[in-house]
Amino acid sequence: MSTIDNRTVPEHVAIIMDGNGRWANARGMPRVVGHRKGVDAVRKTVRAAGDAGVRFLTLFAFSSENWRRPQDEINDLFGLLKTFIRRDLAELHGENVRIRIIGDRANLDDDILVLLLEAEETTRANTALTLVIAFNYGSRDEIARVVRGLARDVEAGRLKADAIDAAMIDGRLDTAGIPDPDLIIRTSGEERLSNFLLWQAAYSELMFVPDLWPDFNRDVFFAALDRYAARERRFGGLSPKALAAGS
Ligand code: IPE
Ligand code: IPE
Ligand code: MG
Repeated sequence: MSTIDNRTVPEHVAIIMDGNGRWANARGMPRVVGHRKGVDAVRKTVRAAGDAGVRFLTLFAFSSENWRRPQDEINDLFGLLKTFIRRDLAELHGENVRIRIIGDRANLDDDILVLLLEAEETTRANTALTLVIAFNYGSRDEIARVVRGLARDVEAGRLKADAIDAAMIDGRLDTAGIPDPDLIIRTSGEERLSNFLLWQAAYSELMFVPDLWPDFNRDVFFAALDRYAARERRFGGLSPKALAAGS
């Protein structure tokens, strides 16, 4: 296992957990088996992130477009989230992990809403890793909800249109108060964002790894952190090297 240089550990890592279906398919098993294995990978990753000194870990668990899947699979995914919270909440709380949920809650059933609120409320004061679960989350939906809220405030005379800036939009996103992801990892070899954190990813480092999500583990995570540490982030400015060369 690699060692992590504390100065270059990303504050916020976001992961598009992809490839559960293919993992199961390759073994001649139903897709749900891949999703179940995926929950084990979640447990390993939460622990590895905490150990590495990552402050925020966001996991994409169900997208606003995943409603296009067969109802049975949707039920499996909802069931797994519920089981995960019921089984793991006490342990995560014991490890001082704070849980936050992002995504649209408007059309979720009461039983799942109650669990999500319980997870957030129970862990609200925790100060170790913040685990952000993106559930029924889609970036375009999130931004549309923000725009509707702003339009309502302008309509009601509470807000001047000219006062709207990027910081105000940031503050109204589901991720308000959470720093932008430094690193976004997608597993399974697919190279796209699939409507994940589009606004927040403006300057994120993107990393695509071939491993299917059920195979993701501490070593793959630490290897990704090593690769991240070697990246140079410029945010539109110049690197120290280029600055020195130009002076
Ligand atoms: C990721 O695995 C889990 C979710 C999207 C909820 P997939 O279910 O997308 O697996 P593949 O991409 O079909 O292999
Ligand atoms: C993205 O994966 C959503 C989650 C990981 C929850 P998908 O498997 O749904 O993405 P596409 O459809 O291949 O782009
Ligand atoms: Mg997929």
